[in-house]
Amino acid sequence: MRADRTVPHPPTPLLPVRVPLPGRSLRLWLKLESLGPYGSIKARTAEALLDALEEAGRLRPGNRVVESTSGNLGIALAGLCASRGYRCTLVVEPSTPRASVALMTEYGADVVTVPEQPSGRTLDARLAAVHDILRRDGTAVWTDQYGSSANPRVHTTGTAVELAGAAPDAGFDTVAVAVSTGGTLAGVADYFRAHRPTTRIIAVDAVGSAALGGAAAHRPDKLAGFGSGRASRFVARHHWDRRVRIRDLDAVAACARIRDRTGLSLGGSAGASVLAAVMDAAGRPATADAACLCPDGGDKYPQLTGVVARDPAGATAEVAAALDALGHTRRDAFAHPGTSPVTEGVAKP
Ligand SMILES: Cc1ncc(COP(=O)(O)O)c(C=O)c1O
Repeated sequence: MRADRTVPHPPTPLLPVRVPLPGRSLRLWLKLESLGPYGSIKARTAEALLDALEEAGRLRPGNRVVESTSGNLGIALAGLCASRGYRCTLVVEPSTPRASVALMTEYGADVVTVPEQPSGRTLDARLAAVHDILRRDGTAVWTDQYGSSANPRVHTTGTAVELAGAAPDAGFDTVAVAVSTGGTLAGVADYFRAHRPTTRIIAVDAVGSAALGGAAAHRPDKLAGFGSGRASRFVARHHWDRRVRIRDLDAVAACARIRDRTGLSLGGSAGASVLAAVMDAAGRPATADAACLCPDGGDKYPQLTGVVARDPAGATAEVAAALDALGHTRRDAFAHPGTSPVTEGVAKP
């Protein structure tokens, strides 16, 4: 066994901010996956996918790892393949941030870009390209983030354990999780259902995504990694208490509010989760503590640079009210004075 397999993914920080709501304030706990290895939550997934294939004896020196990715998984896979000695080919699409593609290439991966397809079907084109590579190259092995049980499992045994272990004494009233493959949502929800059953789970999908049902549609402002052109194979109805669909432009506006008020750079799916958590809490006076998984940071997204914090055209009254509240966010004192928010209460692996 390789030495680096024994080093667990380090816990990521959980940072509280305060969002004022009429007559009270919401404490929002941001779990910042951007501060983990490879800058996103997908490092956990990439490591788990590779480990599972190696343990099954399906991935050996000389193999080529192949995967379809919106960016983050590809960065982590490219880096891990370089350190584990595999060749790597990643299939991306035009909405994949250029900075993400540049990193994949720097790690030595080959990158194939499929053209944008009509009606939100670009993921189909990416998967067709993966299957084509598998047919042509006998050494190629697909990590299959869409179907491998290692994907949700790592969030049950890792992400969720960390999150629950770092919660305030009364626990989280809600946890908001954005979906793409749905691995994070299914894995985190499985843990909370079993160990923190009073916590409500909010599933956050994109308008125009088919991840949690419905038809895929073209998304002109698509935020990479948020939503999917296909239904999740991991998420079932019992995994969420409420499903919220967020428009890409509203998620961008939420990121701008948080950035301007706290200095924190959140990626688009994190902004969507924050917005959904605030919208949900606004209608539930008993909600005091809400956690948001923040899968990555915002720096690589072209949509998030130079954004002015104003309401996007067509925002609903509920979204506009939540954006207004986010425009008054402030950083909160850490719950445990004198201790590090990074490790306090985090379950040891
Ligand atoms: C930025 C971002 N947010 C959210 C997700 C959703 O993760 P999952 O595939 O586990 O649903 C991803 C996945 O690629 C992502 O890159």
